[in-house]
Amino acid sequence: MGRDVGANGAALLEVEGLRKSVGSQEILRGVSFDVPRGRLAVLLGPSGSGKSTLLRCVNGLETFDRGRVRVGEVVVETTPGNGAAAREAAVREVRRRTGMVFQQWNLFPHLTALGNVALAPRVVKGVPRAEADERAAALLRKVGLADKAGSFPSQLSGGQQQRVAIARALAMEPEVMLYDEPTSALDPALVAEVLGVMRALKDEGLTQVVVTHEMRFAREAADEVLFLAAGELAERAPAADFFANPRDPRAREFLGRAS
Ligand SMILES: Nc1ncnc2c1ncn2[C@@H]1O[C@H](COP(=O)(O)OP(=O)(O)OP(=O)(O)O)[C@@H](O)[C@H]1O
Ligand SMILES: [Mg+2]
Repeated sequence: MGRDVGANGAALLEVEGLRKSVGSQEILRGVSFDVPRGRLAVLLGPSGSGKSTLLRCVNGLETFDRGRVRVGEVVVETTPGNGAAAREAAVREVRRRTGMVFQQWNLFPHLTALGNVALAPRVVKGVPRAEADERAAALLRKVGLADKAGSFPSQLSGGQQQRVAIARALAMEPEVMLYDEPTSALDPALVAEVLGVMRALKDEGLTQVVVTHEMRFAREAADEVLFLAAGELAERAPAADFFANPRDPRAREFLGRAS
């Protein structure tokens, strides 16, 4: 399998031995995978298998007990002696390099589409207003919403709002985009426009990890499938192989139910 190699000879995103328990329940039991630059990985698995928890651990919204997350050359790990302050700084840096899009897009209702996209670059990065607005307009064009820059969220469809949310995440210039069921709250008619944006971003070479129930999208757009079951990575395979010939019995059962 060909591999795009990052500056330090490894994939852009790497997760190693990730473990997390809540109380006595082990939610993640030592998950390892990597995603080369420019690839789209789809994360599949039954409800409760730990998909959301895994994404949230990767981008620092949740802590983990053991293991290591690397984005580019930034590493968050649980090595004893790795001080809390250093770890906090690494988590912040990882969060800066990863954009996250959720099922519910939660745009700021009092800001226009343009205002939503331009806000974080202005507030967090100090980008001057004119420049932030110009870049926001370009991002809205990219997600097919050039004509909606002045619309408020309440004036947009769910699919349009979700595309604004993607543009908003892209405005911070992440190296990796993480999506947790980005189309699950949408009317079926609006799903395709959001999937189309992720396909276009893939064509541009953005690295993406997508939790989704859209099996056709997974089959057509993913380079690789990561199949999670009960907190373990039960199978990892090129998408074509996974769908043609799932090896893990739980993956076979999952696909049987999904089709
Ligand atoms: N903060 C928490 N406290 C207690 N249990 C949690 C917490 N977060 C997640 N869990 C448990 O961890 C397991 C994995 O949850 P998670 O939401 O990551 O699964 P999922 O694969 O995203 O499921 P779904 O497909 O339904 O979204 C579940 O058993 C869930 O109940
Ligand atoms: Mg989930």
